[in-house]
Amino acid sequence: MSDNVSKNVAKIISPRINEPTHVTSSQYDKLYAQSINDPDAFWAEQAKNLNWYKMPTKISNWSYDPVSIKWFEDGVMNICHNAVDRHVEAGKGDVVAMIFEPDDTQGEARHITYGQLLSDIIKMAGTLKKMGVKKGDRVTIYMPMIVEGAVAMLACARIGAIHSVVFGGFSPDALAGRIKDCQSRFVICGDGGWRGGKSVPLKANVDAALKQVDVDGVLVIKHSCIDIDMQDGRDYDYDEYSADVGDICPCEPMNAEDPLFILYTSGSTGSPKGVLHSIGGYATWVAATFKYIFDYKAGEIFWCTADIGWVTGHSYVVYGPLINGASQVIFEGVPNHPDFGRFWQIIAKHRVNIFYTAPTAIRALMREGDAPVKAHDRSSLRLLGTVGEPINPEAWRWYFDVVGEGKSPIVDTWWQTETGGVMISTLPGAHGMKPGSAGKPFFGIKPQLVDNEGNILDGATSGNLCITDSWPGQARTVYGDHERFIQTYFSTYKGKYFTGDGCRRDEDEYYWITGRVDDVINVSGHRMGTAEIESALVSHPLVAEAAVVGYPHDIKGQGIYCYVTLNAGEQHSDELVAQLRAHVRQEIGPIATPEHLHVTPALPKTRSGKIMRRILRKIAENDFAALGDISTLADPSVVDSLIEGRLNK
Ligand code: WTA
Repeated sequence: MSDNVSKNVAKIISPRINEPTHVTSSQYDKLYAQSINDPDAFWAEQAKNLNWYKMPTKISNWSYDPVSIKWFEDGVMNICHNAVDRHVEAGKGDVVAMIFEPDDTQGEARHITYGQLLSDIIKMAGTLKKMGVKKGDRVTIYMPMIVEGAVAMLACARIGAIHSVVFGGFSPDALAGRIKDCQSRFVICGDGGWRGGKSVPLKANVDAALKQVDVDGVLVIKHSCIDIDMQDGRDYDYDEYSADVGDICPCEPMNAEDPLFILYTSGSTGSPKGVLHSIGGYATWVAATFKYIFDYKAGEIFWCTADIGWVTGHSYVVYGPLINGASQVIFEGVPNHPDFGRFWQIIAKHRVNIFYTAPTAIRALMREGDAPVKAHDRSSLRLLGTVGEPINPEAWRWYFDVVGEGKSPIVDTWWQTETGGVMISTLPGAHGMKPGSAGKPFFGIKPQLVDNEGNILDGATSGNLCITDSWPGQARTVYGDHERFIQTYFSTYKGKYFTGDGCRRDEDEYYWITGRVDDVINVSGHRMGTAEIESALVSHPLVAEAAVVGYPHDIKGQGIYCYVTLNAGEQHSDELVAQLRAHVRQEIGPIATPEHLHVTPALPKTRSGKIMRRILRKIAENDFAALGDISTLADPSVVDSLIEGRLNK
């Protein structure tokens, strides 16, 4: 079975392999060896790429049993200074930091230089102080995807406040829960945002959330100019309230281990966890990963499509690119508005060189065919990236062949909210690629595969992915609940960080993330990655997307339940279902034959585009009463149509 799969995908693809990049293949080997043999020396050197008020002399000090993680603990710095001030001080105030592209195609793009960004941050930081925000306070940020969202984060960092960004698509209940959990006393929000021509009522959501929890102040940034209510003594109009704030607000010198931000992320159980990152290690990690993985060179335009509400937006919209002095696009809208060519139109318009997005977006766009891509000039592209989920080789090929015209390498970056930045990825110029494989560990990362009993597995094999040693960007704790941090990540395999992902390591020591291990299906004693079956399904020419879950099966233990969406214009028929079954058998083997093939118009996705498998599993199990919270779905009505489809089976 896996032979079949690896035959399909094991070929190494190497465009531009020897072009000048930050590291070549032999340099990677050397640097990686150094980073493993003497991590403190390696990271002390990397830390020198940042400005410190006090250079750290103690580099790492960590233990996974008991769990305590510290990097650069005697260093003093400010990450906002590193992201913005120092570039201005170095005479780069006129370099464009951000190109804001509005949702509305009639709206004009706005270019914000590092100099302008600095003034904006100083003004917002001064305003936060005027509101009473102090070092160590938690500030909840609930903003559209606009420059001011990044400004709000950097303004907090500047004065030593801890930001907790909540994605603008989360409901008032979810927002209230996050405000409560970290006892945040301040909120920064937009009046509203725009997505695909529709306005998002952010301030109204804040008002609804604040019926459940009290805060001292809400700073409202006007953007969409929709009607909003303002509550006297609590809500402040940013433009008015900041009018008398001066243009001086120095960076607060912060200890490297002081907290930088809290970001809530869902686990397999319980309410979302407030993952906490600290300043110095995170800054060093995102600086290094951005530099080497995206291979950024001065003058280039970078574009990461993630929202600042997710960790990708934190690390590769805000901190990583800015620390490296990069110029980047910030886009408020969505890929399918006004049509499916929007991404490519923006790439042409701003001459984007490096483009970083999610497989789900790639698949959605692939489904519309090549024409919307080909309608726009993509000759500026030289590097493509993906993040967030395994990318099936089919989508990878389309991204590579059609979007990148076979010229741009793809970095498939595996990482997590908890890891702060990319952990596994090929480096352009250093490594060839294998479609569907993230590739090689980044500097300082020691992946280890273990079986369910925790036995270490060597060589080409599959197992549960652990990381044995700490790295600077690692989360330090779960806010307010260190015990939960220990339980979630360090107790399954004592003494190791457990990622929750399954992974295969091949003969070339390339890593293939197979998905969360809770998604692994065991059929008649054979373990199968749902990603593997999905990949087979989407390699069928009529299939757009697939999601596969296990469900209890009397004889086999678990059976395979497949949900598929078809390409635009394709119709569901019994012949097609039979064809898809045969296709999976052919791609993987009879053992992977789906018991159920459920053709559906849509899959249940969070607003960040993640498929909610929990719901699919419950529907496959006919357990409609236990679907749990569906409020985080982009379109909750999908659930009804899935249930109907299940009942008709
Ligand atoms: C998955 C997003 C395969 C994985 C940065 C991980 C990936 C979870 C990849 C973290 C990738 C992320 N290939 N799987 N390139 N990137 N994942 O916290 O299951 O939103 O554990 O962080 O996404 O999701 P999170």
